[in-house]
Amino acid sequence: MTVHIGANPGEIAETVLLPGDPLRAEWVAQTFLDDAECVNRVRGMYGFTGFWKGHRVSVHGSGMGMPSLSIYANELIRDYGAKTLIRIGSCGAMQQSVSVRDVILAMTASSLSTPSRGIFRELNFAPCADYGLLRAAADAAERIGAKPHVGGIYSADVFYDERPDLNEIMTRHGILGVEMEAAELYNLAARHGVRALAVLTVSDHLITQEALPAEDRQSSFAEMVEIALEAAFA
Ligand code: ADE
Repeated sequence: MTVHIGANPGEIAETVLLPGDPLRAEWVAQTFLDDAECVNRVRGMYGFTGFWKGHRVSVHGSGMGMPSLSIYANELIRDYGAKTLIRIGSCGAMQQSVSVRDVILAMTASSLSTPSRGIFRELNFAPCADYGLLRAAADAAERIGAKPHVGGIYSADVFYDERPDLNEIMTRHGILGVEMEAAELYNLAARHGVRALAVLTVSDHLITQEALPAEDRQSSFAEMVEIALEAAFA
């Protein structure tokens, strides 16, 4: 057990999917995994371990924002031996060429700041995805007929942003979408020598203001889970 995860040693798989929402973790376990068992309930941040096509896999909530993700990713990597961590989540589109429901594979994650800032200080470290996972996810997405966009995303610190000029700068620099967790996941993966990727579905559009209707969220999410699982075990 760790401070925030109640699982016993060995109860977390080497491959962990990380949705922000713990109830999504439960849904993924019920929908995609065989013999899934709940291994964490601390603070309602559910974690499950089961099997997908015979591969042992865990799915664990990360919470929203990089400070929360940092707690869970640190403990999963350092205390439970996680080796492959794939964030599955939503993002807001920042380009006209990206539509609601599309899939974004985050090659890099820009940010204003991350919880790792205290380590990097004046260094502008470039957090990036594991290339093997990224490539496998792009292949898997194309196989299942999803339309993957591969490129940079922006990991923001605030959802209710009072500085729209920042979003505009990101758009001008080709950033595909905005979410709130991937940059620190990539930082931690680099620090600990493990593999990480963020697979995102577009839930809202910052330019057109379109938003994914609630009833469509589940199907977009399912597509993303499939891509993440295929990539993890390619
Ligand atoms: N996640 C989904 N949509 C988002 C947005 N517009 N900003 C930040 N995170 C998001």
